[in-house]
Amino acid sequence: MPNLSCTQAYKPVMPPDPAMIESALSIRRLWPAEQSQIRGHLQRLGPQDRLMRFCHAAGDARVSSYCKNIDWLRAIVLGYFAESHLRGIAELIPTDHIWPRTAELALSVEEPFQNRGIGTALLQRALVMARNRLVDRVYMVFLIENRKMWHLARRFEARLANRDGQVEGEILAPWPNDLSLIEEVASEGQANLLVNGFGGTPAMELYYMYEAAQTFVENVRFAMSRSKT
Ligand SMILES: CC(C)(COP(=O)(O)OP(=O)(O)OC[C@H]1O[C@@H](n2cnc3c(N)ncnc32)[C@H](O)[C@@H]1OP(=O)(O)O)[C@@H](O)C(=O)NCCC(=O)NCCS
Repeated sequence: MPNLSCTQAYKPVMPPDPAMIESALSIRRLWPAEQSQIRGHLQRLGPQDRLMRFCHAAGDARVSSYCKNIDWLRAIVLGYFAESHLRGIAELIPTDHIWPRTAELALSVEEPFQNRGIGTALLQRALVMARNRLVDRVYMVFLIENRKMWHLARRFEARLANRDGQVEGEILAPWPNDLSLIEEVASEGQANLLVNGFGGTPAMELYYMYEAAQTFVENVRFAMSRSKT
């Protein structure tokens, strides 16, 4: 059995580049009332990106029907916002209700925003949410030629398998703890404040706020380790 440790799945992201820092901060959960924004985002994906996202060619009508059929009672959808516009999403869909729980994850980032760490930040956040909902395995299915997804999956130590011409990546999520719960609440709170309340805040200010939140988490972690000794 290979070592499938996936500690990267819940370590806070600390990218060095201010654009990447802003990415992590501009992600929040989406709600059913935002379905039309999700449709707009998916329809802005070019043909190649749509092919990569859905693993088949999907026209506007198909994308529209896909969005109408999102099962909001089960799915968790996270959105990345740039200047109040939705530019990337991660969809986490629990695949069963039996134990242990599993979920499927799908990502999309609009072409002008790709290669800035947004896909990584969305994946990271989705994995924390999966973990906090007692999902222990997250699957991602993508086409063999999707080199970026290979790269992202490997970054999160996914176990990769070829399934009928597609790749299935499996990421193990560890058991939740108080820090993973704090991480989710803090990230969501920050994002709601920043996405909805501080449009146009310079990247470095966002960085300092992010650093403060991360320091808080590190302090809690340190205090807990001291209390155990
Ligand atoms: C896959 C996708 C979500 C990635 O989003 P993103 O914001 O570009 O991702 P990131 O910037 O976090 O990471 C991309 C990485 O791929 C690397 N990359 C870019 N082109 C690459 C290529 N041809 N081969 C290998 N790696 C490549 C980038 O350098 C970057 O790695 P780095 O951070 O180590 O430099 C986005 O490309 C997308 O929406 N694609 C279309 C839909 C799709 O494929 N969805 C996946 C199906 S589930």
